[in-house]
Amino acid sequence: MQDTVLPVTPDWAERALIDRAAYDDMYAQSIADPEGFWRDVAKRIDWIKPFTKVKDVSWDPDDFRIRWYEDGTLNVSVNCIDRHLARHSHHVAIYWEGDDPRESRTITYQELHDEVCRFANVLTMQGVKKGDRVTIYLPMIPEAAYAMLACARIGAVHSVVFAGFSPDSLANRIQDCGSEIVITADQGLRGGKTVPLKLNTDLALTQCPNVRRVLVVKRTGAKVPMQDGRDIDYFEAAAKVPPVCQPVEVGAEDPLFILYTSGSTGKPKGVLHTTGGYLTFVAYTHEIVFDYRPGDIYWCTADVGWVTGHSYIVYGPLANAATTLMFEGVPNYPSVSRFWEVIDKYKVNIFYTAPTAIRALMRDGEEPVKKTSRASLRLLGSVGEPINPEAWMWYWRVVGDERCPVIDTWWQTETGGILISPLPGATDLKPGSATKPLFGVRPELVDADGKTLEGAASGNLVLLDSWPGQMRTVYGDHARFINTYFSTYRGKYFTGDGCRRDEDGYYWITGRVDDVINVSGHRLGTAEIESALVENLKVAEAAVVAYPHDIKGQAVYAYVTLKAGQPATPALADELKAFVAQHLSPIAKPDVILFTPSLPKTRSGKIMRRILRKIAEGETSNLGDTSTLADPAVVGDLIERAKHIG
Ligand code: WT7
Repeated sequence: MQDTVLPVTPDWAERALIDRAAYDDMYAQSIADPEGFWRDVAKRIDWIKPFTKVKDVSWDPDDFRIRWYEDGTLNVSVNCIDRHLARHSHHVAIYWEGDDPRESRTITYQELHDEVCRFANVLTMQGVKKGDRVTIYLPMIPEAAYAMLACARIGAVHSVVFAGFSPDSLANRIQDCGSEIVITADQGLRGGKTVPLKLNTDLALTQCPNVRRVLVVKRTGAKVPMQDGRDIDYFEAAAKVPPVCQPVEVGAEDPLFILYTSGSTGKPKGVLHTTGGYLTFVAYTHEIVFDYRPGDIYWCTADVGWVTGHSYIVYGPLANAATTLMFEGVPNYPSVSRFWEVIDKYKVNIFYTAPTAIRALMRDGEEPVKKTSRASLRLLGSVGEPINPEAWMWYWRVVGDERCPVIDTWWQTETGGILISPLPGATDLKPGSATKPLFGVRPELVDADGKTLEGAASGNLVLLDSWPGQMRTVYGDHARFINTYFSTYRGKYFTGDGCRRDEDGYYWITGRVDDVINVSGHRLGTAEIESALVENLKVAEAAVVAYPHDIKGQAVYAYVTLKAGQPATPALADELKAFVAQHLSPIAKPDVILFTPSLPKTRSGKIMRRILRKIAEGETSNLGDTSTLADPAVVGDLIERAKHIG
């Protein structure tokens, strides 16, 4: 079958920041002379002390370093706020749209400045200094952005924990980075339901003896217990400090933030991003990928708890003096027209969301979309997981009225920003493909043995050279960083993704090839879910795999063996699902739990996940080689059990 191609329209070719000829030229230049290319790009940043060195990178595990602009100094909050004040102090920095459509706030750049300074002063008064880690566990309210930027202003390192994570997950993340300060809210509000954030924090902190201060932002006004000597009402403290705060000079390679993400093994990794390269990269990609123009209203529907929120709600847009919309709610509350109503309310020009949201909204048909105008829209973005061609076409046709290019952006928490994506004025689109590498990005496909594949091929996606937004280490475990990403294919960055390259050199990401699963664009490690399951005293052993799901992309299938004497009942399956939701996150809740007396293992005791995946997918006709199993009869038994679980 021939792929659909949607050529760049003449108006886009004409007006876009980068047209096809420019893309070809600039890409060639960025590969031939990366230093020169990234030296120029970094001019968009206000440096306190200009850098003299652009790039110092070696991915050789024995001689490893990643440094960008290393002798430059800057302050991220100055770049995102102060430098815009002369011309843009009254421009809107953040539109905040509450979960309830009657609640909204407008924050100008001057107000953003004042609020961030207050927040920074409160942190300083609590003894937070440059290099200290601050955990932020907040819902989607402007204070989340203030808190991040306030940390950046004083050189503290934030670790945002998604407000959907459980007390245990929060505790692990607080402990791992050793933060003594937590910022939270009384409650969150999503889809009309409250989320007990302060309560969760209190539970988490029973495991975190080193936390000495909790700043509580009032969101719903619910009465929550406040621990004397530890908990502080944020707004009370903020009222007592001035709205000015001297920014701290920070080195380009000093850390900006840590963000935990799931890997294929063990506990989540603290992905560490630094300052100068990261800001340069997210500001630049925000402009070129979305063809951002001054005055545009830009909306990314992600949560600040994920990297998309960091890079493309907060840092990239604000560095570009953009108006960024922050949305507290969900796509289907109070109605399934909510996204489109918000677009009309604020006259959004650029809209960036996830395939899972599109697929969910597709179910409700065109009417809830078509009854809104959406005339302001110019460009539609997609991120987080592969977008299937059907969802792509629906997004383009129904949401964008066949007028707005759909920009499918591939990247990862580790990459800091977008690496593979069309540019709207330069790249002919193919529904389902993230298309071509951005400047300086050198993708390669390799087979399992690391052999480079040429031309049209399918393989594992690796990258051959660094870009300024690349993560620098796993917090507290540099060896794990080198091992995870640079050792599988020595000296190359292994993405963990499988990928096809077609005859036009377009990249089609096919999904993870490791034990990471992607549920509704949220990344989960099978190992994490398994360890949450075995924390339950009734569970002896668990093995988790993904299976395809119409809306979520992938869903969680858990094989569970119970301890002796535990009856395998539907009630227990429900109990275990709730247990995972509570101990890890509702996102990780298994869709299917299959009780089994034993799991397929090799003679050395390794669980054969390949077989479990096939059974979960219902593809039992071709299970491959099962001769190395200790007990091959287990497989037939599992297939029988799977039939009855439907
Ligand atoms: C993984 C990274 C990118 C920020 C949000 C997710 C998958 C991401 C795409 C895309 C196909 C995608 C990959 C990647 N992914 N974007 N456009 N097409 N797959 O960040 O949580 O670190 O997850 O998400 O599998 O490795 P993340």
